[in-house]
Amino acid sequence: MQKIIILDFGSQTTQLIGRRVRELDTFCEILPYNKFPQDDPDVIGVILSGSPFSVYDPEAFKIDLDIIRGRYPILGICYGAQFMSHSLGGRVEPAPSREYGRQHLTTIDLDNPLFQGFEKGSQVWMSHGDTITAIPDGFQCIASTDSVKYAAYWSGDSIWGVQFHPEVFHSTQGSLLLKNFVVNICGSHQSWSAASFVDTTVAELKRQLGNDRVILGLSGGVDSSVAAVLLNRAIGNRLTCIFVDHGMLRKNEFTQVMEDYKILGLNVIGVDASAKFFADLAGVSEPEQKRKIIGRDFVEVFNAEAKKITDARWLAQGTIYPDRIESLNITGKVIKSHHNVGGLPKEMNLQLCEPLKWLFKDEVRRVGRQLNMPEHLITRHPFPGPGLAVRILGDITPEKVRILQDADDIYIRALRDYKVRLSGEEARKVLAAGIPAQMTDGEIEVSLYDQIWQAGVILLSTVRSVGVMGDERTYEHPVALRAVTSTDAMTADWAHLPYDFMASVSNDIINHVRGVNRVCYDISSKPPATIEWE
Ligand code: XMP
Repeated sequence: MQKIIILDFGSQTTQLIGRRVRELDTFCEILPYNKFPQDDPDVIGVILSGSPFSVYDPEAFKIDLDIIRGRYPILGICYGAQFMSHSLGGRVEPAPSREYGRQHLTTIDLDNPLFQGFEKGSQVWMSHGDTITAIPDGFQCIASTDSVKYAAYWSGDSIWGVQFHPEVFHSTQGSLLLKNFVVNICGSHQSWSAASFVDTTVAELKRQLGNDRVILGLSGGVDSSVAAVLLNRAIGNRLTCIFVDHGMLRKNEFTQVMEDYKILGLNVIGVDASAKFFADLAGVSEPEQKRKIIGRDFVEVFNAEAKKITDARWLAQGTIYPDRIESLNITGKVIKSHHNVGGLPKEMNLQLCEPLKWLFKDEVRRVGRQLNMPEHLITRHPFPGPGLAVRILGDITPEKVRILQDADDIYIRALRDYKVRLSGEEARKVLAAGIPAQMTDGEIEVSLYDQIWQAGVILLSTVRSVGVMGDERTYEHPVALRAVTSTDAMTADWAHLPYDFMASVSNDIINHVRGVNRVCYDISSKPPATIEWE
């Protein structure tokens, strides 16, 4: 299958480049800058990403351009463009002031294949400290802004460089630029689609797994559910799924999700282990200790079930591409630890099967739709493995979980019921996340739930405050509502929920949830806060 290679020089937007290329129905792989696959006949083009480094930093990431130059069309973005210019005889210098934010391409060579269909004045997003002050001999400047002379250059044959970021939404014709590169210049056939992924993956799983039995841990989330349905299509009942209820799922979630799985024809063992989890968590308040107990209990319960399936040869997981890119992170910093089912007994000798390992989240959703899965399973927000335990401050009791489940249920229903009309960048973001919505007159209508990445309620059970209800004094707990927008959970912003929505949801929670007399809204972004409170 044709593919574009994106060499990662450590930019924060490298994943976004990958997603944009996939949106062009073209397969791409993001690889560390120094891991170019020299013998891969499927490569049709190469993109060099941005980087936190300057080309002059001693520790800057560098490659030997001869490996790719002249063999494939190359597009350098930001540092990628500066690095190529610097290496091939041009000049890069610190910009007098950091070039950051929206700018306009005041001159563009509209005949250049990279700028087919562009409009003069097109808005682009810049973010760099260095700037190119001379391009290599024989290269041409093909776009400038008022302050950046070499906003884009061309070698005259197969090398292009842009100092702006076509992958971010603020570059309004950025997707067109990437399409010009990927489709017109590299010759992509645009044949990577959910349908083709399902066909090839099911065939590949049949070949790989033969008559073997596979175990998969379900969480009720999108990734593990889509992985299960895909495997079910390939090997039917030789897939056994295990869904553990630790007692801290959302209200009625265990029952509802079990119903969904049955309708989907999955062979699921549901294990109600809540009594064990509550007993082991009793009196424990320290967040990390709570997480450790839950992780340990989970492995124990899962293993006890898995061991009963004595002829299993494989453990399947819903790992997706961003999980792997993060763990390959070339700067060596751990951004997010992963919470997969770990520690299966060695004697079970299971091999790992990860059918979604090449997909981004929005692609997982498209595959789910292709497999006719119900929409509420596909668009479900992410939910942490330890569940509501990381949203209850202090120790955990079934009563606190009950209070939180009731408040959370009211909040999530209200988010689903409240509709908003979006246009421009906001609408494009929602559509790019794989949420189905019809565009009419440049607007889409979606629920608040679909507009945000994740929402939940936190029970501040270590705090009490005074209130008055009827003529009675109350002395109860506050809850905090959390809703964030994000594309990958690594960074997040608090969602600007409408005031009328907040007013009515606050009323509903205080009036209907016994034990809560105050509602707050969490307006912290990540960083410096995190999405979950514990
Ligand atoms: P934080 O709180 O680190 O969360 O900003 C980032 C994303 O990860 C989810 N999360 C978890 N998911 N097990 C999981 O499966 C966990 O222990 C866990 N902790 C956080 C969180 O809900 C958010 O989507």
